[in-house]
Amino acid sequence: MDLQLKGKCALITGSSSGIGEGIAKALAQEGVTVVVHGRNETQASRVVQEIVANGGEAFIAIGDLATDTGAEQVVDKALSTLGAVDILVNNAGAYFLRDWMNSTPSQWIELYNINVVSMVRITLLLVPQMRELGWGRIINMSSSVAIQPMSAPDYSATKAANLNLTVSLAKELAGTGITVNAVSPGAIVTPGLNGIMLQIGSAQGWGTDLEQIQQHMLQGMMSNPTDRLGTVEDVAHLVTFVSSPLAGYINGANLRVDGGWVAKIN
Ligand SMILES: NC(=O)c1ccc[n+]([C@@H]2O[C@H](COP(=O)([O-])OP(=O)(O)OC[C@H]3O[C@@H](n4cnc5c(N)ncnc54)[C@H](OP(=O)(O)O)[C@@H]3O)[C@@H](O)[C@H]2O)c1
Repeated sequence: MDLQLKGKCALITGSSSGIGEGIAKALAQEGVTVVVHGRNETQASRVVQEIVANGGEAFIAIGDLATDTGAEQVVDKALSTLGAVDILVNNAGAYFLRDWMNSTPSQWIELYNINVVSMVRITLLLVPQMRELGWGRIINMSSSVAIQPMSAPDYSATKAANLNLTVSLAKELAGTGITVNAVSPGAIVTPGLNGIMLQIGSAQGWGTDLEQIQQHMLQGMMSNPTDRLGTVEDVAHLVTFVSSPLAGYINGANLRVDGGWVAKIN
């Protein structure tokens, strides 16, 4: 299938690691020129180098999206490098292992800023030029825990907010040629999730062997009908399709990629 993505330009926030890295690589393989973003310049440069070595076209933008100036810096760099951004993947995000009674109001505010307001900042800066293009794709990274909350209540609430703002933005942009969708991964093996699993493994007395901890998680809280944890490619393939012109009738949707972990019809 020709996804008709050749020649498009994309900014993938939080692509210096994990799911975002997988998305940047998958889009680049389809002929999309990508801007790889993160705060860690060494990691972002590594991803750019790997994409270029594989025949793709990639550039770097560094900035902390939890601040207005950081977001402006990233968008300025993306637009001056690419000319225009056709595809925005709002993927950057953080998660911490804390339960209800151990999370403080300031931690809730801080995480809401990182996981929700960061998306708002980048979206507000990029939508005007997408309107001028008369075409665009905005994909917001949510999570299974948005509709199936677990521990980390502050994180789950930010991901529920992502679903909500996805729908209101899709309505706001009606008739512009820009679609807005959310993607909700289940448990995806990434450096970020591995860090959390090591903390859980140590608290549960499962040792420090990641593969063994993953097996425990798969038999317990992350058990799903597909019987494995997800890969960054599982998410990247879905995002690549939703980014394409072929996905023009998918709009305002929450697309789950969780192996069936969320026990709901949709
Ligand atoms: N892994 C999962 O199981 C899973 C499941 C559902 C949803 N998600 C969501 O998927 C997204 C990526 O998760 P991941 O597991 O791939 O995490 P990861 O490996 O920890 O990567 C997170 C990325 O976000 C960037 N980032 C974090 N805070 C940032 C900030 N303030 N400003 C700019 N960049 C920032 C990081 O950049 P630097 O390190 O360079 O700063 C990094 O590139 C997140 O939104 C997460 O909530 C993950």
